Amino acid sequence: MQVIKSVHAMAEETARLRQAGKRIAFVPTMGNLHEGHLALMRAAKPQADILVISIFVNPMQFGPGSDFDAYPRTFREDLKKSEAAGVDIVFAPAESDLYPEGFQTTVTVLEVSKGLCGAFRPGHFKGVATIVLKLFNIVKPHVAVFGEKDFQQLIVIRQMVKDLNLDVAIQGHATVREADGLAMSSRNQYLSPSERQRAALLYKYLQQAKERFEKGEHRAQALIARIQSELSRNPGIALQYVSIRDRDTLKPLDTVDRPAVMALAVHIGTTRLIDNIFLGD
Ligand code: PAF
Repeated sequence: MQVIKSVHAMAEETARLRQAGKRIAFVPTMGNLHEGHLALMRAAKPQADILVISIFVNPMQFGPGSDFDAYPRTFREDLKKSEAAGVDIVFAPAESDLYPEGFQTTVTVLEVSKGLCGAFRPGHFKGVATIVLKLFNIVKPHVAVFGEKDFQQLIVIRQMVKDLNLDVAIQGHATVREADGLAMSSRNQYLSPSERQRAALLYKYLQQAKERFEKGEHRAQALIARIQSELSRNPGIALQYVSIRDRDTLKPLDTVDRPAVMALAVHIGTTRLIDNIFLGD
């Protein structure tokens, strides 16, 4: 496994690989790798000759006062896990190399970045779209895999790829969960033991909503109201939003009459968690 730390060296290596006719799969990450990331790598690996991952905690997608400084950085362990997962190249650039002095260009994906997390994290998806486009331009992957836990992120990237005619296939991968259903996330480690227990309720309530939907309740507001009332009985969970959206466009739905996603964000203590579930095929 190669570890490449400079943008220039990575771009040279991708040019060489492409010239040699190699197919490149890519999984961008912010490190602190867990089973969720490893599942993306395992899904990407058989689709290409070379599997590249990036490890970069992207300051542009963290708002002021967010957890950028505290974000867990575990580079040595990440390298061991990447090697075991069959990664060929870890691209771990320095911030000064990706955002040199004078950097001034950003990417805004207008509509799908609004609402849901976008309403509470101004500038977040601009930061995500900008770094992902930069990484695509450096790594030049044929296929890139993203987790469906960050569903809005996946849709933002799909929209950017479509709008900017990028020559990369974007694949979503099902959320990987702990045994009790909690979606895997680097932020889970911020939870105290009692908060961690409470966090499992999110998926339980989402599953119950899906069951209600499958039994015939297709009114979005009724499904939403029920989850709001369940969450309000848990004072340790502060709901930020719960919403039902069209799965392709993220437009809000009144009636769940097409493939949809029910997405929520909460705070448990100081930790912000998101999760979602699909409604309909
Ligand atoms: O999902 C993440 O870890 C990040 O948002 C990403 C896609 C690596 C961009 O920094």
